[in-house]
Amino acid sequence: MTYKNPDKNGYYGEFGGAFVPEMLYPNVEELQHNYIEIIESEEFKTELNDLLKDYVGRATPLYFAKNLSEKYSTNVYLKREDLNHTGAHKINNALGQVLLAKKLGKKRIIAETGAGQHGVATATACALMNLECIVYMGEIDIARQAPNVARMKMLGAKVVPATSGSKTLKDAVNEALRDWINNATTTHYIIGSVVGPHPFPDLVARFQSVISEEIKWQLKEKIGRKNPDYVIACVGGGSNAAGTFYHFVDEPSVKIIAAEAGGFGVNSGKSAATTFLGTTGVLHGSKSIVMQTNDGQVIEPHSISAGLDYPGIGPFHANLFKNNRAEFFSINDDEALESAFELTKLEGIIPALESSHALQVLKKKTFQKDDVVVICLSGRGDKDMETYLKHLSQ
Ligand SMILES: Cc1ncc(COP(=O)(O)O)c(C=O)c1O
Repeated sequence: MTYKNPDKNGYYGEFGGAFVPEMLYPNVEELQHNYIEIIESEEFKTELNDLLKDYVGRATPLYFAKNLSEKYSTNVYLKREDLNHTGAHKINNALGQVLLAKKLGKKRIIAETGAGQHGVATATACALMNLECIVYMGEIDIARQAPNVARMKMLGAKVVPATSGSKTLKDAVNEALRDWINNATTTHYIIGSVVGPHPFPDLVARFQSVISEEIKWQLKEKIGRKNPDYVIACVGGGSNAAGTFYHFVDEPSVKIIAAEAGGFGVNSGKSAATTFLGTTGVLHGSKSIVMQTNDGQVIEPHSISAGLDYPGIGPFHANLFKNNRAEFFSINDDEALESAFELTKLEGIIPALESSHALQVLKKKTFQKDDVVVICLSGRGDKDMETYLKHLSQ
């Protein structure tokens, strides 16, 4: 059994599939039939790799965090996705999908965004490749991630507020899906995480898998072996985590840790810790673990970080959870803030609030002195400065 890729129907174990309204069948089927052939072609790979190298700035460093390592008496390496162009891992997927959309002859791009990083990445790729770009974003996220809204607008994207439900990421996905149904022939929907109907979870995981591909050769170069003892990443929908875990999930010696957003606490009624609170259900076109009431109504999530404020996880991660292949932690808002300030103080790196959830695992788990622990620093904290400053002055 492999954890890496789904079966031909898009299932990771019991999770995945494609649950879409009839009007989206042609689009989803077109993608299902063509995505592997297109993205595995030499022409596509060369074009994308050139962009990743010269435009995005890959490979991103694998940084040995000496001060953090000393504090936690282990060996901590940070995979610096925060140093990518536009400030997070999201650009790896956005560029790949915009290239794919061009090959499919689509002229119009839509996307959803939570923290704004996927929206900025998509708007950036669309500016580069001269495509129309519309980004759906929850009204609450528009307020709390204002710098990214400004960036999207400057890049030429239209930002459309999602005003239903909790006015956050889930609601933005709903609006984007609605748009796609109405504009199925002209439009490609660039999903920003490993969620949605098959083939999106696999497509996005493949574009993000460059993260673990690089970790392997970078570790080999630094310590003489390709596999760490632990890989750790935060999970919203799960794309930076899927990319970080991808080349390690089928290597039993590598332990995998996912950090979810606990919000005010798992039992507070204001949380986004899906594996702790969720049950099997269908959300946004795939079967996975979802926070829902007994009669299937989605429960509104809460997290201080817009990128983790989502009531589900991708089927890739649901399968890891179900099979105990990954250990899941729930990290609360205040704990994430604590880790953000700690990294800033110890290493001079201001992380995104999302990534700070992964950093907090250092406090939750005891590592051995000679363990090699790789944490994905999925993004930089510029977008979160207002939240940080609010807590700095308290
Ligand atoms: C910096 C950063 N990290 C993590 C995430 C969470 O998304 P995912 O779980 O798909 O990596 C986001 C989402 O916006 C983000 O901006």
